[in-house]
Amino acid sequence: MFKKSLVAVMAASAIALTACGGGGQAASSTGGADKKIVMGFAQVGAESGWRSANTKSVQESAKEAGIDLKFSDAQQKQENQIKAIRSYIQQKVDVIAFSPVVESGWDTVLKEAKDAKIPVILTDRAVDSADKSLYKTFLGSDFVLEGKKAGEWLVGESKAATDTVNIVEIQGTTGSAPANDRKEGFEAAIKADPKLKIIASQSGDFTRSGGKQVMEAFLKNNPDIDVVFAHNDDEGLGAIEAIEAAGKVPGKDIKIITIDAVKDGMTALSAGKINYIVECSPLLGTQLMDLAKKVLAGETVPERVVTEETTFTQEQATKALPTRQY
Ligand code: AHR
Repeated sequence: MFKKSLVAVMAASAIALTACGGGGQAASSTGGADKKIVMGFAQVGAESGWRSANTKSVQESAKEAGIDLKFSDAQQKQENQIKAIRSYIQQKVDVIAFSPVVESGWDTVLKEAKDAKIPVILTDRAVDSADKSLYKTFLGSDFVLEGKKAGEWLVGESKAATDTVNIVEIQGTTGSAPANDRKEGFEAAIKADPKLKIIASQSGDFTRSGGKQVMEAFLKNNPDIDVVFAHNDDEGLGAIEAIEAAGKVPGKDIKIITIDAVKDGMTALSAGKINYIVECSPLLGTQLMDLAKKVLAGETVPERVVTEETTFTQEQATKALPTRQY
């Protein structure tokens, strides 16, 4: 009788240990009879085609990896993302992953996660926290390089030009890592040619409607626009609508450079309405789940995992489109 209850107590303690989340120690990365890893993912929103593809990638990869995903959409608002992270801490998830809407203002909530012993993985966008111990790793693109590639293409294209080349820039969400970094990279690259001048720059919030509105205002105030540099495809697609409505031909009267390479953007590039796209891959799900498993298994992971990306001309877009995943 005594033996039987001892076995029962031992079994109960083992279950309690496996079931305790929070520290990330108890969750198994191997699946099987052990408890599933629980990941809390705080997404930016649904502002662009890129974002929808990223959400799909994260959700599908979690399923494939056997990870229980708690998902929230912050509708591009930092306070919503902070609330979601706090709720994941309260729920004692095993790991938190998020793509920060903006770069600044994360130290307090990240410290709360650290104090609760819940590891955090940054995905897609970075934070500017000086204390790197607040997160385990950052998986995503090199946004400065993306801006640089866009600028370098324009420098090459403008070699033959004799006059000033007037550029308007439609920035991404103000204060976000991709907006800050793409601007920085683009400006650094176009410095190589003093003919290239940014005559206006404004945020379109990474949305199609934002890109359209900003472009309408640019067209009203600037009769001689030669080039649009849009921080993502959606803004570029919105700009196309505004340019056409103004009776001009996108891709010809006004050249357009964008970043992302989602299907809609690639279709416009293939049709000659966009002139060049720098790729930013949203397919981060598989790598994110692998990193989460490694972190929870106590393995060392690199501080930074950079996504591999390419660029597309009209011809390359036409070739790539039939097999484009997103
Ligand atoms: O953070 C990645 C950027 O965010 C993508 O370029 C853009 O489309 C998205 O909204």
